[in-house]
Amino acid sequence: MRIFHTVSGLREVLKACRLKGLRIGFVPTMGNLHEGHLALVEQARSSCDIVVCSIFVNALQFGLNEDWDKYPRTYQVDCDKLRDSGCDYLFHPEDTEMYPNGLDTQSRVICPSMTDVLCGASRPGHFEGVTTVVTKLFNIVQPDEAIFGIKDYQQLAVIRRMVEDLCMPMQITAAPIHREADGLAMSSRNTYITADERPNVVVLKESLEWIAEQIKTGARNFTELETMAIQRIADAGFKTDYITVSNSKTLDPAAEDDLEITILGAIFTRAARLIDNLSINLD
Ligand code: PAJ
Repeated sequence: MRIFHTVSGLREVLKACRLKGLRIGFVPTMGNLHEGHLALVEQARSSCDIVVCSIFVNALQFGLNEDWDKYPRTYQVDCDKLRDSGCDYLFHPEDTEMYPNGLDTQSRVICPSMTDVLCGASRPGHFEGVTTVVTKLFNIVQPDEAIFGIKDYQQLAVIRRMVEDLCMPMQITAAPIHREADGLAMSSRNTYITADERPNVVVLKESLEWIAEQIKTGARNFTELETMAIQRIADAGFKTDYITVSNSKTLDPAAEDDLEITILGAIFTRAARLIDNLSINLD
């Protein structure tokens, strides 16, 4: 695996790959890699000739009071994992390489659709930071295919929409959610969960599954289901950010006759905010 810290270095080697007609797959990450991330690399490996990963903890997508400074940075271990998973090129830029003119005057990519609800409602500006950095990374790598996890369902939906709206010439591939043995969705932020909270956080996934079961057996009062799930989460000791039954495509609140439904949730532990989702097809 070759490692690049500059845009020009990575571009040069990728230009040669492109001239040879090689298919380039791209997996953007913020590091602290777990099996969920590595599965994306393996997915890229299976459909592309060259696999590029990036590790960049993007300050632009963190709010002022969020965890940018304490976000787990495990670069050396991440490199070993990527090497073993078949990554060809790792892009690991400094902040000054990605944002040479600083953050304040950085040009932004704004997607008005789907970005101020759910995670966007409690993290203002977050998706603008994501779409801006992902666009920059896409412009640097110019991949044929980019792989994103369904774990971040809203992020995936926003990126798909951005790629469509801005005619970005690439395929976006969705990869399934990787989970711990008890069902907790893997996340770099799981390291913030305290030992006493850990056995109970699975309540998020279980609440989404419970709602899915109710809907499959005919329940259509989604607000009532959301309220009951929030109570169940409170009983387990956690505050809910949101639990919503949404239209899978638009992320609007689901209508009674919607056939493709995604149930999304976010809860707060003492030091972490955890998200999860579950899609059902009623066809
Ligand atoms: P990060 O949280 O590091 O996630 C990188 C990619 O891994 C995303 O596509 C995410 O959905 C996926 N992923 C994370 N946990 C997963 C799991 N348990 N199962 C499957 N896939 C999982 O998402 C970001 O970074 C950033 O916002 C980024 C897109 C890199 C832009 O900065």
